[in-house]
Amino acid sequence: MKTIADLGDVRGRRVLVRSDLNVPLDGTAITDDGRIRASAPTILQLAERGARVIVCAHLGRPKGAPDPAYSLAPVAKRLGEVLGRPVAFADDTVGPSARAAVEAMPEGGVVLLENLRFNPGETAKKDDERAEFAAQLAALADAFVSDGFGVVHRAQASVYDVAKLLPHATGGLVATEVEVLRRLTHQPDRPYAVVLGGAKVSDKLGVIGSLLGTADRLLIGGGMVFTFLKAQGLEVGTSLLEADQVETVRGYLDEAKAKGVEIVLPVDIVVAGAFSAEAAHRVVPTDQIPPDEMGLDIGPESARLFADRLADCRTVFWNGPMGAFEMAPFAAGTRAIAQSLADVTAKGALTVVGGGDSAAAVRQLGFADSDFGHISTGGGASLEFLEGKDLPGLHVLEEGDT
Ligand code: 3PG
Repeated sequence: MKTIADLGDVRGRRVLVRSDLNVPLDGTAITDDGRIRASAPTILQLAERGARVIVCAHLGRPKGAPDPAYSLAPVAKRLGEVLGRPVAFADDTVGPSARAAVEAMPEGGVVLLENLRFNPGETAKKDDERAEFAAQLAALADAFVSDGFGVVHRAQASVYDVAKLLPHATGGLVATEVEVLRRLTHQPDRPYAVVLGGAKVSDKLGVIGSLLGTADRLLIGGGMVFTFLKAQGLEVGTSLLEADQVETVRGYLDEAKAKGVEIVLPVDIVVAGAFSAEAAHRVVPTDQIPPDEMGLDIGPESARLFADRLADCRTVFWNGPMGAFEMAPFAAGTRAIAQSLADVTAKGALTVVGGGDSAAAVRQLGFADSDFGHISTGGGASLEFLEGKDLPGLHVLEEGDT
């Protein structure tokens, strides 16, 4: 894969940069700017070398038409603050505003285009519709830099098709992410543990299957754990449950046993009558979840057990919170895992926190980025990478320039 240096002298050239600026918002307030900060170095590097930098990105999942709730305008403002230089904002993607902004841009200037997903061509299933939008994006620029690691698993116009139309390079963020994640897939230092949480086991089935071939231990928490507990014959009350996945999970439990992979499940659970910070809550053993209550976090015994199973690890990957951490009464499990990772990082282990939600969680709980070896900006992308899938946004960068 070519790097920015391979693009040669970029002074005065229009460089389209695909970043992942899909940050969580509360109204128009950015609640975690991690992806903006992670995207800044590549943009800055190009601007400092005199390129005219056209940044493009998506926010959320609008339905292929402009929707003010998903405008990137607040992101443009924050990006300017992080870069310490002005960022012009085009209020369309490839229309008159974008063309005028690019035209007006000085050497070293930065413009952010409006949300790519306001154009139906960005996510179109039909190749020709995507190609048409990609051609309009490509017409704005002389070269393309792929730096949105969080979207490299998407075969979308600004990720995949546009790279076929312009001389292209891999941005520093994508290069770093790939380098770190490769250390997990290629002979990781052992013991290698993976902590998985989050709501849905169905999102993680693929990665669980492939981790049974690479990891030594799998520690499971979050909403998805209840499907595991059910697969072990336990009752889970009104907790999240994917009943149609119980059989698959049972198969994984058997496979893990056969392969000698240790699956670590919680031994106690924080339960409440409702999904609410105000609901009365208490800790019960995992085999005593009452029929009318739901599990919203792993309990303190489980946190100790997980800490113990992580303490000697040389490599740890973590994706997905252990509970409903946004509500203070259910944040302790996620905090405990973050602390365990920070502790093994201090002992020299490689720790990787994967995914927007997990990254936002650790920052919200007061941890610093430097407490971990690497915080990946990609959620789905990092899981698909670990699963060994061919990611279209990486694959296309390996193909020759036009
Ligand atoms: C993410 O948040 O994981 C990336 O920005 C990709 O977003 P998407 O899942 O909506 O494609």
